[in-house]
Amino acid sequence: MKVLVLLGSLRAASFTRKLGLAAESVAPDRMTFEYTDGGDVPLYNQDLDGDEKPAAVMALLNQVSNADGLLFVTPEFNYGIPASLKNMIDWASRPAFRSPLKGKPSLVMAQSVAPSGGARVWAQLTSVLGGTLTPTYLAPSFTVGAAHEKFDESGALTDELTRVRIEQTLAAFELWAKSLI
Ligand SMILES: Cc1cc2nc3c(=O)[nH]c(=O)nc-3n(C[C@H](O)[C@H](O)[C@H](O)COP(=O)(O)O)c2cc1C
Repeated sequence: MKVLVLLGSLRAASFTRKLGLAAESVAPDRMTFEYTDGGDVPLYNQDLDGDEKPAAVMALLNQVSNADGLLFVTPEFNYGIPASLKNMIDWASRPAFRSPLKGKPSLVMAQSVAPSGGARVWAQLTSVLGGTLTPTYLAPSFTVGAAHEKFDESGALTDELTRVRIEQTLAAFELWAKSLI
């Protein structure tokens, strides 16, 4: 299963990226991971959304189309979705209800340094994906609180409970996604 990981943080030392890499490290070999953070994708502008889209947008749309599933990994910014991630979703959501996102099995993982673990962005993102006809694995929700305590200096995940939860969630997601593909 080809998984495209859409990262909600552009920060070099991002916990989001570390969480995505941790998911890849515990995933079974039959799941392959590719990453994008949308840092080179221009702000959505319908004037640019014609037959000839910006190169970075075309690359994103191809990545989404070629993936068997999407893994959204994101921090919570001001109770909501980081702009760079929402921007990727907006580009990939057109044409409405016929877009590359339509029918693509998705999993959302949120993290925060706060104890709430990005629960608000998790709920917001699953709702936004509903509007693009992107089926989302809904239960149990996946959030990681106190993210700054869960990784070592090298970026490796050190929290055993989080590792087990990732493993279980990915297994359930894969099974569910296969029933949709
Ligand atoms: C602009 C901004 C807004 C934030 N707002 C929230 C918030 O509303 N809720 C929350 O739990 N954390 C909030 N945070 C903290 C981030 O979620 C937290 O630092 C996260 O781990 C950063 O992810 P990253 O390391 O992948 O960049 C905010 C951080 C920034 C920079």
